Amino acid sequence: MKKQGVNVGIVGYGTVGAGTAKILLRKQKDLERKLGFPVVLRRIADLDTKRDRGVKLPAGVLINDAKALLHDPEIDIVVELMGGIHPAKEFILEAIGNGKHVVTANKALLATEGRDIFKAARKNGVDVGFEASVAGSIPIIKVVRESLIGNNIRSISGIINGTSNYILTKMTEEGVDFSATLKEAQALGYAEADPTFDIEGIDSAHKLTILASLSFGIPFSFKKIYTEGITKITPLDIQFASEFGYRIKLLAIAKQDGNNIEMRVHPTMLPKDHLIASVNGVFNAIYIEGDSIGPHLYYGKGAGEMPTGSAVVSDIADIARSIKTSAGSITGVNIPENPDLKIKKMEDIRTCYYLRFSALDKPGVLSRISGILGGRDISIKSMIQKGRKIEKAVPLVMMTHEAREKDMAQALKEIDRLSVVSGKTVYLRVEGGED
Ligand code: HSE
Repeated sequence: MKKQGVNVGIVGYGTVGAGTAKILLRKQKDLERKLGFPVVLRRIADLDTKRDRGVKLPAGVLINDAKALLHDPEIDIVVELMGGIHPAKEFILEAIGNGKHVVTANKALLATEGRDIFKAARKNGVDVGFEASVAGSIPIIKVVRESLIGNNIRSISGIINGTSNYILTKMTEEGVDFSATLKEAQALGYAEADPTFDIEGIDSAHKLTILASLSFGIPFSFKKIYTEGITKITPLDIQFASEFGYRIKLLAIAKQDGNNIEMRVHPTMLPKDHLIASVNGVFNAIYIEGDSIGPHLYYGKGAGEMPTGSAVVSDIADIARSIKTSAGSITGVNIPENPDLKIKKMEDIRTCYYLRFSALDKPGVLSRISGILGGRDISIKSMIQKGRKIEKAVPLVMMTHEAREKDMAQALKEIDRLSVVSGKTVYLRVEGGED
C-alpha cells in the first residue's frame, strides 16, 4: 500500500529535539490540515533514553541506535539535532547516502564542513534544510534565499546569539555578575554545550558564515571571520557607554564593498535609539540592506526549545511538501559561490571607536594622547574625564570619528607605552550613528 504521510526521524533528543517532538506530536492534526497529508514522527535516536523531556512519545519511537534510524527505509527526512562536528557529519552523510532528506540546526557543522554536506546532497538529489541553524525562530534563511532573491544584499548585521545578548542585557539592566547570568542562560537551554562558543563570539561567527555565504556568495569562511567575545565587557564600560547615549551589543556584521566582503563579530556600541539597541534578553534581530528593498529588520527569539523547534518544523514541512508534490527542491542545496569576492582584512575596516584610557591626572596627559591619535589621522568627537581615581589613574573616555582599524591599533600601542597611562586601553567599535 502506498504510504500516505512523510516519516521523520530525529537524531539527538536534547533541548531542540524535545521542542521539535512536542510540535510534531501536539500539532499533528494541525500540520496535517495545513499540509494536506500527515507528517509522522517515526523515530528519535539518543543514547539517553531515560531522561524525562516533558514529551509523551508513542511506544517504540525512542531508540538508542542512530544507525538503525539512518537506515530505516520508512524514514524520508532525517533531522540532525545532536550538535558538534563528529559524528554529526558522518550521520548526515550516511543519511544523504541512503537517499534521505536532511534537516539540521547545526551551525558549527555547516560553517566548517557545509561544503561537503551540500555537495553530497546535490549528488544524491536530496534537500538539506537549515533554517534553525541561524537566529532560532526568525525565518532568516528563507528570507535571504527566497524572499530577497531579487536583491543585491549590501549588508547584513545583527544580534545572532541569544545567550550573550541575555548576559549583556542583565548586566546593563540589573548590574548583575557575568557568570551568574551565564548559568541562568545555560539552565534555560539557550547556551551551547560549550558556552565559550556563545560568550567568545564563535557561535555568532558560525551563523555569520552561513548568512554571508547565502547573502553574498562568499564561500563558507568561518576561519577568516574576525571574532571577539563579551568576556572583557565591564560594568564600567556599560555605564560610560550609557552616558554617551549608547548600548553595548555583540554584533555580527557582514558588508559588501565592491568585490570586498567585510565580516566581523565583536562587542559594538550602538546609539540607544538604534532599533537593534533595544533588542534585549534572548531575542535576536537581523538588519538587512538590499538594493531593491532598502532596510529590513527581523526580530524574534534566537534560542530555546520551542522557538528553535518551530524553525526545524518549518524545514520538515517544506521538504515534506516537496516530497508529496514532486515540486522539486524547495529549500535547495545550491549555495552560491562568487569567485571574485575577497574578504577584507580586519586592519582595513573603518569604524568609529570608544576608548577608555587609565590616565594619570596630570597636566599635559590629554595633549600627549590626542597628539598620538591625531598623528594617525584619528579625530576625537567627544570626551569625558571622571574625577574618581581607579588605582591612582582616572578614566579618560573618548569617542572618535571614523578611523582605520590599523591606525587605531598602532596608536593604542603607542599610547599604552606612555608612562602617564597605566594598563591597557579599552576600546570598542561603534556602529549605527553619524560619523
Ligand atoms: N547558543 C545559541 C544562542 C543557541 O544562545 O543563541 C541558538 O543557536
